[in-house]
Amino acid sequence: MTEQVSTLTVTDNRTGRTYEIPIENGAIRANTLRSIKLDESDFGLLTYDPAFTNTASCRSAITFIDGDAGILRYRGFPITELADKSSFLEVAYLLLAGELPTASELAVWESEITHHTLVHESIKKFIDGFYHDAHPMGILLSSVGALSTFYPDAKEISDPGLRRLQIVRLIAKITTLAAFSYRHSIGLPYVYPDNDLSYAGNFLNMMWKATELKYEPDPILEHALDVLFILHADHEQNCSTNAMRAVGSSQADPFSAAAAAISALYGPLHGGANEQVLRMLTEIGSVENIPAFIEQVKSGKKKLMGFGHRVYKNYDPRARVIRQIADEVFKVTGTNPLLDLALELERVALEDEYFIKRKLYPNVDFYTGIIYQAMGFPVEMFPVLFAVGRMPGWLAQWEEGLLDPEQKIARPRQLYVGHEERPYTPIEDRSPDFVGASDSIAALAAQAAPARPRR
Ligand code: SDX
Repeated sequence: MTEQVSTLTVTDNRTGRTYEIPIENGAIRANTLRSIKLDESDFGLLTYDPAFTNTASCRSAITFIDGDAGILRYRGFPITELADKSSFLEVAYLLLAGELPTASELAVWESEITHHTLVHESIKKFIDGFYHDAHPMGILLSSVGALSTFYPDAKEISDPGLRRLQIVRLIAKITTLAAFSYRHSIGLPYVYPDNDLSYAGNFLNMMWKATELKYEPDPILEHALDVLFILHADHEQNCSTNAMRAVGSSQADPFSAAAAAISALYGPLHGGANEQVLRMLTEIGSVENIPAFIEQVKSGKKKLMGFGHRVYKNYDPRARVIRQIADEVFKVTGTNPLLDLALELERVALEDEYFIKRKLYPNVDFYTGIIYQAMGFPVEMFPVLFAVGRMPGWLAQWEEGLLDPEQKIARPRQLYVGHEERPYTPIEDRSPDFVGASDSIAALAAQAAPARPRR
């Protein structure tokens, strides 16, 4: 992309001075505003952009999204073509290397990932320490962070060979940790990786293997899961990728950065939405209840989970592909009755002015849960599946940030709106109506729900 350099001419009406501000790639550098001052003692102007709704934090060549046109490309390749023709490990290679691998490069890459799926036996003891009903995302983010203690060489983030080794370890071991967290929750023994199987096939093996000598994944479900991983592999500067880059910018190891990314993804507004969609559909229960639910959404009492997006103001291109995968999966599993409910909910919403005006369309999370449930995954595992798919994207973004000469430790500024300087108040001088920390903590404690009795 050739850089179009032109300028903004800005007049500061406080001083009458004008400034020429360069425009590069459709953006201005925030730091150029620091020259706009009242006088030499002035700090200069900041930009204020809560939640970064209009702020580019980096230059990236990994993923391109056109939210209005509903376009998503990994390294220039349309997501629909990759979903149709590629494999998850090939896409992971593409995101990280920037180019599709040759046959021999892919074979080496697949072998490296396959032969790093085992985890240290002590991790099993770590996972055993969780309550049986611990949410698997809590187990996953903890165990990924714990992995950093097994690989001190992960701190050598400036060594390309060691970076690649950690990248391979994380893509390989996230499936094992994800499956172990599920097996722990149902009290079944952990299943070891089977190197004869594909990435998705081995994940299904570690999830579902019972007493059979060798687990054989259903090829249709194996392929469907591989495509779902492709669709989740990256999505430019989303909340969890921002966390990955921010933690990585302090030169923390990639396991610790990935634990932060998984934590961000856990939130119901992000990767946790697929779990909330299933809970929402189950709560609605039947098509007859849709109008009442939509009214609750329009009155601000509820959100239509799986709808809306910060960037897409059109149909999420991934949701279209996922809708097609649903038919493929249901041929094997039998249809999920919630699909009809979801389809009717989508139809009603897309015809309603509230959603049309706000450009709210189904996003990647709207249909995935219905498929995962049909495949036998419990609802708590849905965000875990998102994390497995997103790992290569997080790592590609992490490494791109490390190698970007313009990047350094992420440290935003703030607009201070607190007290001016004031003297310390001795405790004997504080009036009874002094609202101190203890009052607010007591008030918060009183509001808090009673602790859930642990079983
Ligand atoms: C993912 O960023 C990424 O790329 C994320 C992701 C990825 O691949 O990494 O694509 C994955 O996280 C997808 C999003 C999953 N989350 C959900 O489905 C949760 C439900 N969606 C919303 O919470 C919301 O749409 C967000 C969080 C996704 C986006 O929120 P924004 O961009 O901050 O938009 P907003 O909250 O400012 O909403 C604008 C308006 C508001 O109404 P008004 O105040 O103007 O009256 O739209 C309304 C919102 O109330 N709105 C919704 C809504 N989403 C937005 N109203 C009802 N239901 C919704 N889902």
